[in-house]
Amino acid sequence: VLKVRAHAKLNLSLEIVDRRDDGFHDLVSVMQTISLADTLVVEEAADVIFRCSDPALETQGNLVVAAARLLQSRCGVSRGCSLYLHKEIPAAAGLGGGSSDAATTLAGLNRLWNAGASCSDLLAMSEELGSDVPFFLYGGIALVEGRGEIVTRLPDPRPVWYVLARPSVDVSTARIFAALSREEWTNGETTYDLARSIAAGEKPYRVGINDLQGPLFRLFPEAYDCFSLVSSLAPDRTFVSGSGPTVAAVFDNRRAAVTAASALPTALGWVRVARSSVPQPEGSPCV
Ligand code: C5P
Repeated sequence: VLKVRAHAKLNLSLEIVDRRDDGFHDLVSVMQTISLADTLVVEEAADVIFRCSDPALETQGNLVVAAARLLQSRCGVSRGCSLYLHKEIPAAAGLGGGSSDAATTLAGLNRLWNAGASCSDLLAMSEELGSDVPFFLYGGIALVEGRGEIVTRLPDPRPVWYVLARPSVDVSTARIFAALSREEWTNGETTYDLARSIAAGEKPYRVGINDLQGPLFRLFPEAYDCFSLVSSLAPDRTFVSGSGPTVAAVFDNRRAAVTAASALPTALGWVRVARSSVPQPEGSPCV
């Protein structure tokens, strides 16, 4: 039996720089895994069996099932597995939960089955599963480019703490991208600058830019309201992660983050405190 954690991510900065012929967008982002995590329990079984703590996610379409079947077929594995996913990361929240689950499944099953896939094999499979999946084969903090498949690790800065607040709306990433106008694209410089400062050893306090924030706030006023509330507690240190709607604010220490979190109205919905700089995903040949 293998028990592995699949960590959530935050986009400390996210710029959309171009639209590609395949319909996806080229982006420049700094991504970081945080302590908030799902747990995946993997065991040998005759076929691929999947169970999930959230019944709404317990479907054959779950990325965990897709990852298992992809690895089976690419590596010619005839064995099966039983996968139990305990969810802590909210879905459709901009925290990369499904992508992290998929990458953790690839790395975990590669180990359980002795499938022998290399880092580059797993990267190729992860790209097929989703744009954010390759990053999760590395974890830590990284500059992410292209559609999401070009991942450059950055040195782990000293830890910071985040308050996470998620208004109760499910956000489809595709819908946010569809509502993004060309005028909202930027050139990536703010994000490259942040990556350089992290590479130079600075703590990631500086808030980057998120080009998806405009369409998110237009389509979901609840996300704007949440952003305003959190910003009032942490001015200049609040940002939206990915396509949202989760809002994060960065703090120097746990106590400051817990104090800020407890000052948020309970009606806001889901609020958590999480730490940066978590250990790498177990079993990934990329780290
Ligand atoms: O790759 P993933 O399935 O996570 O992407 C979800 C949707 O987000 C895509 O269908 C696409 O509309 C949009 N997207 C994009 N460019 C990216 C990543 C995602 O346009 N780099």
